Amino acid sequence: MESISSGEGDASGGVSSRRGLSVQDVNIYYGNFLAVRHATADFAAQSITALIGPSGCGKSTFLRSLNRMHEVIPGARVEGTVLLDGRDIYHPSVDPVVVRRKVGMVFQRPNPFPTMSIADNVLAGKKLNASRLSKNDADVLVEQSLRGANLWDEVKNRLDAPGASLSGGQQQRLCIARAIAVEPEVLLMDEPCSALDPISTMAVESLMLDLKEKYTIIIVTHNMQQAARVSDYTAFFLSDGGPGQMVECAPTSEIFSSPKDQRTENYVTGRFG
Ligand SMILES: Nc1ncnc2c1ncn2[C@@H]1O[C@H](COP(=O)(O)OP(=O)(O)OP(=O)(O)O)[C@@H](O)[C@H]1O
Ligand SMILES: [Mg+2]
Repeated sequence: MESISSGEGDASGGVSSRRGLSVQDVNIYYGNFLAVRHATADFAAQSITALIGPSGCGKSTFLRSLNRMHEVIPGARVEGTVLLDGRDIYHPSVDPVVVRRKVGMVFQRPNPFPTMSIADNVLAGKKLNASRLSKNDADVLVEQSLRGANLWDEVKNRLDAPGASLSGGQQQRLCIARAIAVEPEVLLMDEPCSALDPISTMAVESLMLDLKEKYTIIIVTHNMQQAARVSDYTAFFLSDGGPGQMVECAPTSEIFSSPKDQRTENYVTGRFG
């Protein structure tokens, strides 16, 4: 398997060899503004973790720190360690482009390239990563990714139609197909269902459960029922006026039935937020 490190050996300094993501004491800044403070959590391979918490508490910021998308904002930076399969994605020898391929992202609003065909949308990430594909390999990858995203049957007869010709729910599944076409290890999803109707939401949720067999999934959601339905673990974020923090991260059943922190209980029972 390709390493995120450009050099030989263990770029993490041998901190850990477990699979999945391990976040250790991460602080995330926009310029001088500390948006997320001291976040620490492990995200096991082949599990789904939901990030919940009130608006503005740093969920999206935290998510973007996990694939080095945060730093593309001018002045934005991350302190601390994020290990992917035991290797620090922020180590100076690590290429952020490789990190973003291994840790894919799906956004709140489906963002296919509108004029690009459905098939080319699926291949877009692959092409960005400068892989040369034969026509046959490209066809196989398009079908496999669209099947993986549970969209193949709906689009197989119009692969040349523009991305914008799909419904919102189909566009979101197209974006998921695009994300999985580059064969990531981790899939980050920021409120992927918030613009979708209940049927499309169900389709994306059942897709997440399928994808969990292969990927580590971290999803931001404001929908508590969704967190309870799909996730194995839930992390609760809160900002008490100051920087956002991860109050606790535990098995989802525990967060919803017997959280350790009173603030988590207040939130999940709807007493604030
Ligand atoms: N590009 C940016 N520049 C400066 N500050 C930002 C930027 N993006 C977000 N912030 C700030 O960082 C904090 C966390 O924002 P973030 O978007 O991560 O919250 P969130 O939990 O995802 O909220 P929501 O549920 O509304 O999506 C907020 O105070 C926000 O104003
Ligand atoms: Mg957000």
